Amino acid sequence: MTSSDRARLSVALVDVAPGRDAEFQAIASDFEALLIRKNYGRFDTIRDEADPLRYYAVRHWNSADAAAQCHADPEVQAITDRLRRIARITHAINGVQRADPGSTPDRRARLDTDRRAGFDRRKQDAGSPAGPDRRAGGDRRVRSRRQAARPAAMSLVDAARQAREHAHAAFSRFKVGAALETADGVVIGGCNVENATYGLTICAERVAMFKALSEGHRRFTRIAIVADTAEPTPPCGACRQILWEFGGDLEIQLANLTELKGTHRLKDLLPMPFDARLL
Ligand code: THU
Repeated sequence: MTSSDRARLSVALVDVAPGRDAEFQAIASDFEALLIRKNYGRFDTIRDEADPLRYYAVRHWNSADAAAQCHADPEVQAITDRLRRIARITHAINGVQRADPGSTPDRRARLDTDRRAGFDRRKQDAGSPAGPDRRAGGDRRVRSRRQAARPAAMSLVDAARQAREHAHAAFSRFKVGAALETADGVVIGGCNVENATYGLTICAERVAMFKALSEGHRRFTRIAIVADTAEPTPPCGACRQILWEFGGDLEIQLANLTELKGTHRLKDLLPMPFDARLL
């Protein structure tokens, strides 16, 4: 295969903040026009059928060089900054298309397999200590000036607020959203789902965890939980158990629609836990 036979393909998941869809569409069409005008390649967005605020942003580069030039282009960076202000971007694929994907040299183009052998290998907190919600002082600068000038990516709490929009809480009217972050930075949302017999109701946190597990994720760092209340909404006992068994000592961020109300460790919310080590 010659290099001209190869087209670079990059795919990112874009989770748009509620109410910002029109802005996203405008940014996407600017980006598409830019890629064509500068002969970098093509750009498509595909809306996730199950989640109206999730898009798959697909970039087909004309060549590996075009991809590199595009990444370094200040006009592209300005558009990406606009996008980060209204969406969370998770890079999923960044590789050279080949007939045999197993032979690609780019490890991110392969499926990430579960390397965790047992309970003890669970990842301890790898969350960003400089995340905006963890700043202690009002005006303390925790990032460099250059970084501070850039808009921050959508926070985990914002992702939980977004997940909450899908809550099915017809009986309690108490909508909850959760966003669970994996050790490699993927964010998985969940909302509470109630049903007519009430008892089969499942909380947002367990939905997020079960979704993540069913998609092959095994190592987690943080979870954000959001409800529309002045007091924080901590995970119920059943959720604490499931989060502990599959996520270990997660960081738990509790927030409402406007502010972060507290950050905790799961070991403090579930002292003396029962788990597989005791079987
Ligand atoms: N709920 C959650 O989803 N997470 C929590 O942390 C607390 C409670 C849900 C379950 C039910 O649908 C509603 O909130 C009222 O309990």
